[in-house]
Amino acid sequence: MKKKMISMTLAVMMGLSLVACGSGDSGSDKSGDSGTSTEDQTNQEDTSGDNAGDEGDSQDASNEGASDEGASGDVANKDKPLVWFNRQPSNSSTGELDMTALSFNEDTYYVGFDANQGAELQGTMVKDYIEANIDKIDRNGDGVIGYVLAIGDIGHNDSIARTRGIRKALGTGVEKDGDINSDPIGTNTDGSATAVQDGSIEVGGKKYVVRELASQEMKNSAGATWDAATAGNAIGTWSSSFGEEIDVIASNNDGMGMSMFNAWSKDNNVPTFGYDANSDAVAAIAEGYGGTISQHADVQAYLTLRVLRNALDGVDIDTGIGTADEAGNVLSEDVYVYREEERSYYALNVAVTADNYQDFTDSTKIYDPVSKQLDESAHPSKKVWLNIYNASDNFLSSTYQPLLQNYDDVLNLDVDYIGGDGQTESNITNRLGNPGQYDAFAINMVKTDNAASYTALLNQ
Ligand code: BGC
Repeated sequence: MKKKMISMTLAVMMGLSLVACGSGDSGSDKSGDSGTSTEDQTNQEDTSGDNAGDEGDSQDASNEGASDEGASGDVANKDKPLVWFNRQPSNSSTGELDMTALSFNEDTYYVGFDANQGAELQGTMVKDYIEANIDKIDRNGDGVIGYVLAIGDIGHNDSIARTRGIRKALGTGVEKDGDINSDPIGTNTDGSATAVQDGSIEVGGKKYVVRELASQEMKNSAGATWDAATAGNAIGTWSSSFGEEIDVIASNNDGMGMSMFNAWSKDNNVPTFGYDANSDAVAAIAEGYGGTISQHADVQAYLTLRVLRNALDGVDIDTGIGTADEAGNVLSEDVYVYREEERSYYALNVAVTADNYQDFTDSTKIYDPVSKQLDESAHPSKKVWLNIYNASDNFLSSTYQPLLQNYDDVLNLDVDYIGGDGQTESNITNRLGNPGQYDAFAINMVKTDNAASYTALLNQ
């Protein structure tokens, strides 16, 4: 508490906007609530406090740089290892990869997951469920299987892929510029929307219409995307005007999915399908949540830190990834792919349903094949700056960050975790005021077009 007060006072003294300060703090609180350990939480608050101080007081900054907590060599910031994760540098309108950011220096990579493979799995999971439960799925018996769709972020390629995956599997997609249109449609109870079409499904000789009744980007008034509270409100509005027509809920992620499940679908026995396999969503499968997709965050969090470790050690980038390291850590080909031309590692997805959810109950457990401690004499401690774009994002705060915090010990990395507000890039870049203190960087952007606002700081 005292630390928080100090960091708030500093922020106010520096003239940072009250809005940014307030949301940053509430973000930290939330990530603490969702399982961040006290020690790491303190670390997180310390970091923001310290960095806030550094910006206002260059004396402080140089003292800190000189402390034994600083970077271990005198490599220029622009040459330090850099990993982008979760939000791939790309054009938010066209999806085109930002290869300038992805090849910023020879030790730059992206770590994410295979969005198309995962999207196809999610769509198939929903379609299979409808077919297997055809006797009871059409709740009002009108011959139309109606679903609503919660969209995370219309400018995020993972979100776009998931919207397309659902529409493709259910036959509701319409082509636009050579691909399935991923625009939200608002409401479409009469089937007249042009960005989607009615699909059809035939089971046991009977044909059903499949209709996307409504879809919306879940963005709150402050601009945060993938917003769970907005999804909870949306299902409230939709269900009160056409609730009896809703037979299935599909969501681009579990944060929004669980919010809709808790607000309405659980009590009304309507299956909700999400993405991420967060622990709370997996547990909810026992209570009627339809299913989710694991994007193998346990593999992604490992890769995020492992590529930095390898670059810092000056060893082959494949060490402990495709090639076993001396401790025996290695990943098999069925859990990730590396696309060299995209400088990107992609974890592979797995469907989590009533059949297998018992194997996925703890989303923060590190992946066994890469859980062996590295020897500190051969892999000395290094300092890493890492940000989470939105400290209150369910997936990142309840699954990804706890995993990173488990792996940082295994890999002897001393990571400062910076939590953003999910809306303003500067809320995060302001806290990268002193890159010289760090040996490597792991970046999760607010907007996928904004890589240059980070690389500009490293280029200085
Ligand atoms: C996750 C979402 C999350 C988003 C943040 C996605 O990969 O599935 O749950 O909100 O990343 O960028």
